[in-house]
Amino acid sequence: MQKKILSVCSLLFLSFLSINCQDQREKKQKQDKETVSLESSFEDDFYVGAALNDGHIDGSDTLGLKLLRNQFNTITPENVMKWMYVHPQRDTFYFDTSDKYVALGNDNNMHVVGHALVWHSQLAEWMNQVKDSAEMATILKEHISTIVKQYKGKIDAWDVVNEALNEDGTLRESNFYNVMGDSYLELSFKEAAKADPDAQLVYNDYNLWKPEKRAGVVRLVKKLQESGAKIDGVGMQAHWSLLGPDIEDIENSIIAYSELGVKVMFTELDVTALPNPWDLNGAAVEQSYEQFEGDPTMNPYPNGMPDSIQTKLAKRYEDIFKLFLKHKDKISRVTFWGVQDGQSWLNGWPINGRTNHPLLFDREYSPKKAYDAVIDLKKKN
Ligand code: G3I
Repeated sequence: MQKKILSVCSLLFLSFLSINCQDQREKKQKQDKETVSLESSFEDDFYVGAALNDGHIDGSDTLGLKLLRNQFNTITPENVMKWMYVHPQRDTFYFDTSDKYVALGNDNNMHVVGHALVWHSQLAEWMNQVKDSAEMATILKEHISTIVKQYKGKIDAWDVVNEALNEDGTLRESNFYNVMGDSYLELSFKEAAKADPDAQLVYNDYNLWKPEKRAGVVRLVKKLQESGAKIDGVGMQAHWSLLGPDIEDIENSIIAYSELGVKVMFTELDVTALPNPWDLNGAAVEQSYEQFEGDPTMNPYPNGMPDSIQTKLAKRYEDIFKLFLKHKDKISRVTFWGVQDGQSWLNGWPINGRTNHPLLFDREYSPKKAYDAVIDLKKKN
């Protein structure tokens, strides 16, 4: 009898233990769900961030801001700090919006990026009229020192020069280049370093996985270094697609840039899930794409991506982040070009009015399969 009571008691105790363990497990899983984020998952590897637009900066996009605070630890302004907005006239600087952007980052303890000091695009029109090299040098110095000093100690990294190279690695014939030759590069980096010696200074460009353009970056960085200018990083923009570039090409660039003694940053990451005009036979890049507007074959997922494409996007992001982790000692930051799909510039480019799905969060601000794939990489480690 005593034996029977004892075994019933131990059975009861064991089932209590197992229920308790299960409770603990469920509690832990729930906590993981609430605390796991891109920021926390990669905190020992590199910063993970997003580009912000007006809705984040003026506070109207409350869901976007919540996601931003939960998931990311670095920010870049998608448009508000570009020359045409910040320095619209020769003697006028406008800082109201960029002050708010910087305060948002500082208040949330984020790594704040400034984008972009010197870029031929989204430039104030008056600057394109400057044709005298001494005058241009004076303006460039004023432009850079005024803006960088405004945010000294508050902006951690600057895209000092953006997109100075052609696809073949030669220097782009922007107005800066046409008037000053390549001396505008050295001047820009030196002026930025003078204005805030502690800020990281970055050369930022797209298609930097291409071998010819890679060689151009290597020449550009070496020349800057030989001139005594400080350059801390190469920003690979990373506007990619499901089809390319090859991981190997990206890897070769990471290694080549890192060998120059600078950090590599992935500054504008997104992966288009839509067909592009240049993937079609006979559609040359320089063609106008207006003819494709409203064409349903070019906009195949207006109501959401089918599961098969979600899976492809997840696999692509998994491969990309595997590479980033492999070279985490060389990479300091990975920034997505937007917070969620609905805000991506890829809904309007290269064809207007499409529904693209290039990021990790969908239009409902919910994580996609691609988000899980990226986070899972760290769970496996
Ligand atoms: O400011 C006007 C607004 O007043 C007007 O109502 C609205 C109507 O279209 O246009 C607004 O300007 C747009 C601007 O973004 C701000 O939203 C421009 O038309 C539009 O062309 C511009 O596009 C930006 C593009 O740079 C310009 O080159 C994209 O949002 C931005 O994502 C994109 O970002 C660049 C990086 O800075 C550098 N690397 C490439 C990347 C993608 O092109």
